[in-house]
Amino acid sequence: MTYAHDCATIIILVTLDNMTAKIIRFGVSLDEALLDRFDKLIKRRKYTNRSEAIRDLIRHELLKRDWDEDREVVGAITYIYDHHQRDLLNKIIDVQHDHQEIIQSSQHIHVDHHNCLEIIAIKGNARAVADLTDTLKAIKGVRHGSLSISNIGNVK
Ligand code: NI
Repeated sequence: MTYAHDCATIIILVTLDNMTAKIIRFGVSLDEALLDRFDKLIKRRKYTNRSEAIRDLIRHELLKRDWDEDREVVGAITYIYDHHQRDLLNKIIDVQHDHQEIIQSSQHIHVDHHNCLEIIAIKGNARAVADLTDTLKAIKGVRHGSLSISNIGNVK
């Protein structure tokens, strides 16, 4: 729907990440061209409606704040390494033991004859998680290290 001054108004549903949270509707006024670009973006990203796309944008911004303010995050570190490389496995295990307070679990997958994939589930403050990720990635022989993070809905 379009209102005066070529602004489009959209209705957004906002839920807190807690399933029991009350849902509140509110309207947002947007320039029509901006809304058009947004609609194209969310179509490319396969959202079925604007509300879910906007909820994810809000969550993303809150997660960025959590990260910047060294709050607790959850997520996974993944990397690949060649288990034949001398002492590499011992170094990786040493690092994991040194960070056991934030490591929830780890999964080891034998990808092929040489390569192993590890997925480490983490829960901890942002700086500690970043430190663990950087330490693992810096080990010679660890490849394609990456960190994926989320938060657990602390919207305070
Ligand atoms: Ni393996």
